[in-house]
Amino acid sequence: LHVTVYPDQQTASKQVARKIAGLIKSKQDSALPAVLGLATGVTPIKVYQELVRLHQEENLSFKNVITFNLDEYYPMKPDAAQSYVTFMKENLFNHIDIDPANIHIPDGTLNKDEVAAFCLNYEKQIEQLGGLDLQILGIGRTGHIGFNEPGSAPNSGTRVVTLDDLTRSDASRDFGGKEKVPAKAITMGIGTIFKAREIILMAWSQKKAPIIKKAVEGEISGEVPATYLQLSGQVEFVLDEGAASELT
Ligand code: F6R
Repeated sequence: LHVTVYPDQQTASKQVARKIAGLIKSKQDSALPAVLGLATGVTPIKVYQELVRLHQEENLSFKNVITFNLDEYYPMKPDAAQSYVTFMKENLFNHIDIDPANIHIPDGTLNKDEVAAFCLNYEKQIEQLGGLDLQILGIGRTGHIGFNEPGSAPNSGTRVVTLDDLTRSDASRDFGGKEKVPAKAITMGIGTIFKAREIILMAWSQKKAPIIKKAVEGEISGEVPATYLQLSGQVEFVLDEGAASELT
């Protein structure tokens, strides 16, 4: 696990966007798709803004890009304001030239008896493309990555999970009250994330400093799922000074 600290979120986000753009272009040179694992939430917003700028001002094309989002609330209608489908459209997909057929986001509309097959197929689709080239992550204050809350197994796959109370509190502003936040979500597993060839976890501001300290320096444990990332050599933590402020 490597840690890189930037003076601020803006500079860090530009570096991450540049890395993604470099990956996309190197794949284009060999006529291959770039398979990206994407996150929602406030953390990656500036990365997406920079990718949109690179598309609009510097001709970066996303025609060869295939995306898999980490998670979606369950249940959730795709056209709801709080859905991760809406988030991804507004922050990235509506502003670039990606083929809509190449976008994958867990489906929050499935019936209980359909969801297990959907999750297995999500894994299979990633596998058939040769795996994720790069997975982008944020981190929740519970230590979740994706929506893998405390107690998640290191080899877990895509599945339905119950959201932690703290996670629902953190989401309550978007929903106008904690009781309106869905109790569940569909998320890629820790095992799914681990199979990515490269993983970048981003965190900004002092608010994330205590959980970043646990994730980087704490004992590896299912109590803080992000600590499993310590076991991988392909992981980079990209932090601003606030998020890094409790690291020794
Ligand atoms: C989002 C996701 C979550 C968030 C985390 C941090 O797709 O999987 O793990 O990355 O909850 O959220 P923000 O960035 O809003 O602080």
